[in-house]
Amino acid sequence: MNRLTGKTAIVTGGANGIGRAFSIRLAAEGANVAIADIADGVHTVAAIKEVGGNAVAVRCDMTSEAEIAAMAKVAGDTFGGCDILVHNAGIYPTTLFEQMSFAEWRHVLALNLDSMFHLTKAVLPNMRARGWGRIIAISSTTFHSGIACKTHYSASKAGLIGFARSLASEVGEFGITVNTIAPGFIRTATTESGPESDRFDSHAQQQAIKRTGIPEDLVGPMAFLASDDAAFVTGQTILVDGGWRFI
Ligand SMILES: NC(=O)c1ccc[n+]([C@@H]2O[C@H](COP(=O)([O-])OP(=O)(O)OC[C@H]3O[C@@H](n4cnc5c(N)ncnc54)[C@H](O)[C@@H]3O)[C@@H](O)[C@H]2O)c1
Repeated sequence: MNRLTGKTAIVTGGANGIGRAFSIRLAAEGANVAIADIADGVHTVAAIKEVGGNAVAVRCDMTSEAEIAAMAKVAGDTFGGCDILVHNAGIYPTTLFEQMSFAEWRHVLALNLDSMFHLTKAVLPNMRARGWGRIIAISSTTFHSGIACKTHYSASKAGLIGFARSLASEVGEFGITVNTIAPGFIRTATTESGPESDRFDSHAQQQAIKRTGIPEDLVGPMAFLASDDAAFVTGQTILVDGGWRFI
């Protein structure tokens, strides 16, 4: 499908994992894609260009308000604005609450949630001027289930859902939708090397669909929310978790 021809998307954390899959799908649907990541996104750009897509990698630390503003400007200067924002960059450290420092709490909130504030500030005026926009934040089913050792993470992902619902109420009249996707447990290089890496199989057995999720399982719901097909869908959270949770 080519539902996004002529649109420009910013994907945060687009160099690796789920964000990389998002970037590739957005480009395949015809969008110009700016990949904002602290890591080098050049290999994702190369994969997109190899199949005729258009993308640029912009190095950006999403905990820095200044770097977010500069990244949004580069994306705007390169492609002429931003129509679709996919806020996917995030970290999910594992720490018992009683051992968690306030510095760690603040860092997770800064990257996963505060960045959403700065990003939205940076792109919203342009979307409003165009009368069209799609804002999609990647939350997590851990918001619905709760999970030990991730109080900061769950709080940040819950914050994204609350933020999206409230902002959706403010900007719907301007043709802008705001939604969240809550993935279940997805196999990426980071989860494969993390402390839960021995839980893929046991987790899959708790799902209605008994296999481990991969980044490509998320791209269809994301592309739908980014497209005109979802013009009447806003303030929603889509759980993409193989049926681990039902809400
Ligand atoms: N993998 C899962 O099981 C799962 C489940 C639910 C939600 N999620 C969410 O999906 C998103 C992607 O997860 P993933 O597994 O693909 O992670 P990942 O670690 O594979 O990729 C995250 C990307 O974010 C980038 N990043 C990290 N810190 C950054 C910073 N300060 N500034 C800019 N970019 C930064 C990394 O370089 C990386 O490219 C995260 O928000 C995560 O919370 C993942």
